[in-house]
Amino acid sequence: VPDTTLTDTTGLFTEAAAHYVRGRAGYPSGFIETLVSRFGLADGGRVIDVGCGPGLLALPLARAGASVLGIDPNGPMLEAGRAAAADSGVPVTFSKRPAEALTAADGPARLVTFGRSFHWTDRPRVLSLLDGIVEPGGGIAIVHEDREQRRTTPTGMVIEAMKRDWVTDDLPSRNRDGDAALLSGSAFGLVERSTATMPRTWTADEVLGHLLSTSYFNPGRLGDRREAFEADLRGRLRAVRADGVFEETLGFVMLIATRKD
Ligand SMILES: C[S@@+](CC[C@H](N)C(=O)[O-])C[C@H]1O[C@@H](n2cnc3c(N)ncnc32)[C@H](O)[C@@H]1O
Repeated sequence: VPDTTLTDTTGLFTEAAAHYVRGRAGYPSGFIETLVSRFGLADGGRVIDVGCGPGLLALPLARAGASVLGIDPNGPMLEAGRAAAADSGVPVTFSKRPAEALTAADGPARLVTFGRSFHWTDRPRVLSLLDGIVEPGGGIAIVHEDREQRRTTPTGMVIEAMKRDWVTDDLPSRNRDGDAALLSGSAFGLVERSTATMPRTWTADEVLGHLLSTSYFNPGRLGDRREAFEADLRGRLRAVRADGVFEETLGFVMLIATRKD
């Protein structure tokens, strides 16, 4: 079954990029360590980070010794990655294109990573492209927040309520369901799921910054509703915690799918 064709997914992040670096949490360091040891990346093993944005996977993997190509079709998101790599002196190569434009010439890769990005792609098509790119013994890693857990945190509950009340129905749907089943049917059939948590203390400003970094509420989508949106969000957050400080635990999920042959 083909995935829904996502129209204009790349543009969704243009207005989000400015808020992304401050608004999004990085990933648990244990995930990075697992990937580095599991795929033997410390000696310059080649990684392609798809939908790399500001490089929340690309940079720590490169810092651990991997040789990383980050791709993203969105100019401002890719530039955020380039700037972050330059600032921290980590060598990462960047290329502006979507996952669907990867070719065999981009390989061989030991690992292809997707940080909060697999759901934006035409997954079956991308998996079959990766069959020609990932070397024997190599694999794919799909990393994102634990969305169920997120909804149970105080800020997560407010965010869900904001989505319910503020998101109009013209947002492209994501291809979120059934990652594990899709992988099982692909060349990358050996699937393991792991979870990890990280503490995060948010202020109301940071929750706002986070929402402005998302495809739901980036400034481009809010347009002239932004002021009212901010006032509504701040009121709801104050009703939960008058001091506006939220100490939470964030859950993350990583699927690792290794080549069958
Ligand atoms: C939520 S951001 C994730 C950024 C970063 N990888 C992270 O872990 O936070 C999703 C990224 O996917 C990119 N994207 C959208 N459609 C894509 C596609 N078809 N192929 C590759 N990346 C895509 C967007 O431009 C955006 O930078």
